[in-house]
Amino acid sequence: MSSLINFDVIPDRSHTFSKAHHQYPTDLAPTFVLKASGVTLTTDKGDFTDWSMGLGPVIKGYNFQELNDFIAKKINDGFAYSIPSEYEFIVASKLLKVLEFGEQVRFAKNGSDVTSAAVRLSRYHTGKTKVICNGYHGWQDWYIGSTTRNGGVPDSISSETIKIDGPSIEQLEKAFTENKENVACLIVEPMVNDEPNIAFLENAKRLCKKNSSLLIFDECWTGFRCHRQGAIGYTSIEPDLACYAKALGNGIPVSAIVGNKIIMKDFEEIFFSFTHASDPIGIAAADFMLDYLDKDFFLQLNKKTTQLFTYINDAIKNIKNPELRLSATSYPGKIALFAENQSLSLQIKTFIQMELLKKNILFNMFFAISEDHKKEHIDSFIKVLNTIIKKFNTTNFNINKETEKYLVSPVFRKQK
Ligand SMILES: Cc1ncc(COP(=O)(O)O)c(C=O)c1O
Repeated sequence: MSSLINFDVIPDRSHTFSKAHHQYPTDLAPTFVLKASGVTLTTDKGDFTDWSMGLGPVIKGYNFQELNDFIAKKINDGFAYSIPSEYEFIVASKLLKVLEFGEQVRFAKNGSDVTSAAVRLSRYHTGKTKVICNGYHGWQDWYIGSTTRNGGVPDSISSETIKIDGPSIEQLEKAFTENKENVACLIVEPMVNDEPNIAFLENAKRLCKKNSSLLIFDECWTGFRCHRQGAIGYTSIEPDLACYAKALGNGIPVSAIVGNKIIMKDFEEIFFSFTHASDPIGIAAADFMLDYLDKDFFLQLNKKTTQLFTYINDAIKNIKNPELRLSATSYPGKIALFAENQSLSLQIKTFIQMELLKKNILFNMFFAISEDHKKEHIDSFIKVLNTIIKKFNTTNFNINKETEKYLVSPVFRKQK
């Protein structure tokens, strides 16, 4: 079948960098997916257990029948209406009730839509221009200009963004001191692959208040994953604005920005508007998932995360060669695996992926844990992990040689 397909019609053969063929050992990994159900991707190379779950959104599982049925009914009401629907007011109110945060909501489709809206809103609201950020926030100029993948972004835009490393209070203070009069906002991923650094978040809040800048929580990952009320519920720290995407729709595109009226009302002045912003299919997915993702759902997800995290840590402590050492970090619903040796990180990632692919497991160095991941999926992963570690520990194991034919690429790299 694949021989009939012209892959050259899509640059990079993918619409998303982290889903592209160069993120997996090409030839060993599946080339494309045909359909998915639960945690299984049916691909051109057979069925694979997925741990990326669409890069985070699919928190229950693929092809979730109850959600499908709910959406199918809504489709029969038509969509893309010419004026707002009654439904968007109902679901916006429901979202505020669940979050117990904010007074107003604007819906959108992608995470990038709402993080960009939050930055423009903060610039308008404060009359300032600089943005401080700490994580990944989407494909837009103001963010991507601060990374090494900044091709096509004018320096005049890149220079408005200051990127700090993870939860560094020192770098945060320096960024505020050096741009004192002009910081519109600090946008942070409240947790980046790890338990929250409360001191960092408290300092973030303090410095924003002191400098009359807005604090934005980018909850595109943490929202509806670590807790029913996202990082705000998990940390009890409230920002000025919060952005939600991914898990809110279990993979059906919907995002939202939430905050208090005093700031959100400025959306009546600035331009944040697009044809499908209030798409009722996405809003219906949010409506359904807001009920489904209840307290018990997160209790179970947290329990599963802790179990898997323990198994991983028990396994990786057996790696004898310091050059090949792995470490893991986690918050409820997510685990990330890292090569400690940065200079071998691509080789180590490639080797891990190669071994897992042999057992039909697709893995990109993080676990987006979903309800449909069961004991058997965890056990299979740990079994392969132990095999990998055994191979790491054999004398004469040469990671460069093992992976040279299949080496994956970094997402962020210097532009030509
Ligand atoms: C924390 C965070 N913010 C924003 C985004 C951008 O979301 P999207 O790719 O839906 O535009 C992502 C995407 O991975 C993300 O992880």
